[in-house]
Amino acid sequence: MCNRCFDNIGGRILADQPTIFVLNGPNLNLLGTREPEIYGTDTLDDIAGRLDDHARAAGACIDFRQSNHEGHLIDWLHEAQAVGAKAVLLNAAGFTHTSVAILDAIKAITVPVFEVHLSDPHKRESFRHLSYVGMAAKAVFAGHGAKSYELALDVVLQL
Ligand code: DQA
Repeated sequence: MCNRCFDNIGGRILADQPTIFVLNGPNLNLLGTREPEIYGTDTLDDIAGRLDDHARAAGACIDFRQSNHEGHLIDWLHEAQAVGAKAVLLNAAGFTHTSVAILDAIKAITVPVFEVHLSDPHKRESFRHLSYVGMAAKAVFAGHGAKSYELALDVVLQL
C-alpha cells in the first residue's frame, strides 16, 4: 500500500493523490508457480511492483491486496468507497464466476470497478464464461497475462 496517499488519523485519501485499489481473489497468491502455462511466471509481487512504479510515475497510488476469502474482497470494495478511491481493478479469480455477493458489492458502490484477468476466461471452460463481476464492471481486461493489469491501469489513469 502507498501510505503517502493516506492521512495518519482518519485513513482518508489525500486529495492530490488519486488511489487505485487493486484487489485479487483466491489462488492468485500462488502466481508464478500456479499453472504457469495459463497464468505465466510473474508473481503477484512482480505485478504489484510494476503497477506501483507506473502509478507513481503518473502521480497516483496503488493499494494492492490479495485474499482467498470472498468476504475480504467485499469489505475492500466497501472500503474503496469509504476512502474515496478513484477506481478498483478487480481480479476476483474463481469468485468471478460464482459470487452474486461480489456483484452486489460492486453495485452498492459508486467507485468504478474494472474486471481484470490474466487469462481469457471466454477461451476456456464454459463455466468460466459467466462473469458476475462483468455484470457491473465498467470494462474487462483479459487475456494479456500480467499486462491485463497494466492495460486496465492505463485506462484508469486517464479517467
Ligand atoms: C483468472 C481466471 C479465472 O477463471 C480463474 O478462476 C482464476 C484466474 C485469471 O486471472 O485469468 O483464478 O481470474
